[in-house]
Amino acid sequence: MTNMNFSARSVTDVAGAKTQCAVLPLFSGEKLSRGTRQLDKSAGGSVKAALALGDFSGKAGQTLMLPGTGGARRLLLIGCGEAKKFDRAAAMKFCQSIYKALSGTGAKDLMLHLADLKLKTADNTWLLSYLARHLVESSYRYTETVSKPKSPLKLNRVVVNTGGKIPATAAKTAMEQGKSIGLGINQARHLANLPGNICTPSYLAQQARKLARGNARVSVSVLEEKKMKELGMGSLLSVSAGSAQAAKLIVMHYQGARANQQPYVLVGKGITFDSGGISLKPGAKMDEMKFDMGGAASVFGTMHALVALGLPLNVVAIVAAAENMPSGTATKPGDVVTSMSGQTIEVLNTDAEGRLVLCDALTYAERFKPRAVIDIATLTGACVVALGSHATGLFANEDELAEQLLAAGTDSHDRAWRMPLWDDYQKQLDSNFADIANIGGPGGGSITAACFLSRFAKSYHWAHLDIAGSAWNAAPKGATGRPVALLTRYLMDRAGK
Ligand code: BES
Ligand code: MN
Ligand code: ZN
Repeated sequence: MTNMNFSARSVTDVAGAKTQCAVLPLFSGEKLSRGTRQLDKSAGGSVKAALALGDFSGKAGQTLMLPGTGGARRLLLIGCGEAKKFDRAAAMKFCQSIYKALSGTGAKDLMLHLADLKLKTADNTWLLSYLARHLVESSYRYTETVSKPKSPLKLNRVVVNTGGKIPATAAKTAMEQGKSIGLGINQARHLANLPGNICTPSYLAQQARKLARGNARVSVSVLEEKKMKELGMGSLLSVSAGSAQAAKLIVMHYQGARANQQPYVLVGKGITFDSGGISLKPGAKMDEMKFDMGGAASVFGTMHALVALGLPLNVVAIVAAAENMPSGTATKPGDVVTSMSGQTIEVLNTDAEGRLVLCDALTYAERFKPRAVIDIATLTGACVVALGSHATGLFANEDELAEQLLAAGTDSHDRAWRMPLWDDYQKQLDSNFADIANIGGPGGGSITAACFLSRFAKSYHWAHLDIAGSAWNAAPKGATGRPVALLTRYLMDRAGK
């Protein structure tokens, strides 16, 4: 994993400051800033020359790399568009342009001259946090099972010249936070990208133990199948019944506040491979079902970010890990199982397995007397049909929690969209042979899946994030690390950070 160093200071001698790449934001139609003029002068007027040639006008997304002199080896001009239109979307584009322009070079450090950015103070820190997150995220490469992995960006030091606009400490804190979130995102991508033959339920349990070993604030317990049976988790165990891999219920405790402070509980769907079971999936793209532990991966990623940030709150993370396979011992369509809550479930389709592992994890969560429970799951293909890949589906039994999560998604640009959980949908889950069926028919598939979960989440404030569309990209294939940014922002907001 990358270790990028972020720092901030106010630089007086811009031309003399040593860096492999001085990054200069430029707005269209604006005069050059004092810092840029200094650098231009020391580089023999090359910036002004490029502008005069019309090669660079400051249009949003435009970049121009020039050789530098003095302290700076390179000058990188970044077009920011019209100053009055420089909103968060433009700021993100700006950060992305920096990475793109640098990725082909050998630059190992950069100095961003923030003084040229005409932003309000609050958005300056937001931009710096996003910059750090983006640079860290961009430097992730999948390396585990390839002989000659692509090498990441060499960049290992980022210095921001605040130009006295914001305190250097505020700038540094913002970047450290962004870095922590980026590392959390990369952790989630790393786990989710691993193939199903490596990333099994027991592998995930090991990762949890590893996280606890290095951190005094984290403790872990892993419930084995025997223990789950004693607890009556017949629903969760019905999913692993056909697999050679034992299910694990992984419980991680992060204690950042007094022990008596009620925790936030995260519950991740950790199906390390979803073949569909006896209700076998078609062959095309079945490999993508290794990503069916994306919810669990995001819970791990969020825990990593939480540890790095040291947030002053308590969080319990529960990962319901199992493999869904067909075999002579597998659960069959029509089988009735009893959940830990006592509710019986008719398994009409063994491919609707996510809700079967989550419902017992949700019942287990009650014992922590949670402030709120959020489950994260690649739950339904129907959610992909409804929202595509840009929005995560959000369901909640409480409006304030829903709004807090939507706000966290907007702020971190890891957005969710609320879907209904109306009672009217519940009757689609009626069964003649059990208290509830595990599928609700063709209409509103992501909603009936959420309705199923809601029956096990009645005793606390609960939200469900369906990340079936947002957890991975189809081309180039790979995990996105969503919704680590949303979840981390949500927890930072609760901690007042
Ligand atoms: N893991 C899948 C959901 C999924 C499908 C995520 C495609 C991403 C892309 C889940 O376990 C599943 O198979 N759901 C079924 C439910 C159905 C049987 C009611 C689905 O969506 O088809
Ligand atoms: Mn399935
Ligand atoms: Zn699944």
